[in-house]
Amino acid sequence: MIAQAKIGLNKSPRTWLVTGVAGFIGSNLLEELLSLGQTVVGLDNFATGHRHNLEDVRGAVGEASWGRFTFIEGDIGNLEDCRRACGEIDIVLHQAAIGSVPRSIDDPIRTNRSNIDGFLNMLVAARDAKVKRFIYAASSSTYGDHPALPKVEHTIGRPLSPYAVTKYVNELYADVFARTYGMECIGLRYFNVFGRRQDPQGAYAAVIPRWITEMRSFEAPMINGDGSTSRDFCYIDNVIQANLLAAMTENRDAINQVYNVAAGERTTLKELFGMIRGCLSDYDDRIKSIDPVYGPFRIGDVPHSLADISKAKRLIGYDPEYGVKNGMEETVKWFVEKNRDPSSKPSLR
Ligand SMILES: NC(=O)c1ccc[n+]([C@@H]2O[C@H](COP(=O)([O-])OP(=O)(O)OC[C@H]3O[C@@H](n4cnc5c(N)ncnc54)[C@H](O)[C@@H]3O)[C@@H](O)[C@H]2O)c1
Repeated sequence: MIAQAKIGLNKSPRTWLVTGVAGFIGSNLLEELLSLGQTVVGLDNFATGHRHNLEDVRGAVGEASWGRFTFIEGDIGNLEDCRRACGEIDIVLHQAAIGSVPRSIDDPIRTNRSNIDGFLNMLVAARDAKVKRFIYAASSSTYGDHPALPKVEHTIGRPLSPYAVTKYVNELYADVFARTYGMECIGLRYFNVFGRRQDPQGAYAAVIPRWITEMRSFEAPMINGDGSTSRDFCYIDNVIQANLLAAMTENRDAINQVYNVAAGERTTLKELFGMIRGCLSDYDDRIKSIDPVYGPFRIGDVPHSLADISKAKRLIGYDPEYGVKNGMEETVKWFVEKNRDPSSKPSLR
């Protein structure tokens, strides 16, 4: 399916808008689209994204492909910025949002402004510009306190954080816009995405880049809780695949739906720690002896998460190429090769 989708894009290139283009997932989508010969507009206000991510993409794709990219520095909180970005666009991949559960607990108003007001602005701008399809980043946090495993799209619980509320509201708005204005919307509920260019820095950094960076500096990472918390960690290339498939599907039953996007594997934090330590030890033997420290469980965290990915397989042909193990090998290699150690401490080599 993905090969077919790529051939289709090659034959008849589209114009895409990637919001949150300077972020982790957005910059990876940009790189893939430019590599596939597409024309891309990117929108970002650098709230949590970085110019160096755009420079990385530029280096990876080369100047000729980079020439098909237009960057707009703007805020999805402003309807006018969204309208400016949506002109002449075929497909929107809406990634811009303030991520992180703890950040939303610390500052729910800021999260709401980007994730709900900004989302609504984007929908209105896309509707008025007659965009053909609106694909958006939803989240596994929408499953909230529902205990069932694996998570199936139609069974959700109560949200456990302001962030989870915002991501659920996105789904409600997208559904209403689809039914009221005839838009083609597809939500992708990402489960703990990881990979190249994920930000290791700051208080709200995701666990995988943070632990890689800490272990490379010979610091002991902290596990929140007793290590039994589990997640369905999803490598970035699976997420790129799901976006392309959602954008290109001609299956009418696949439109105006939400899909789990994950590997369909469950890994505890303790196992994750061992996996990262093992991969890093291939580059520096001394890392083998690092042990984690244990801290309290985090408020707002779902204890366990595992996706049922059969709906995405059935309706859009999703077929994740990476599991957590081979995704982790790629990720660690990337961080080591790029020497992404933000501290001034000695790097591995
Ligand atoms: N990374 C994950 O594990 C994960 C899981 C579930 C859902 N998601 C969702 O995927 C999307 C991308 O996440 P990410 O991990 O790449 O995060 P990220 O922080 O790296 O990227 C988000 C980007 O959006 C930009 N942004 C934020 N508010 C904005 C605004 N008001 N106007 C313009 N740009 C704005 C940021 O500057 C950043 O570049 C988000 O919607 C997030 O909620 C991510």
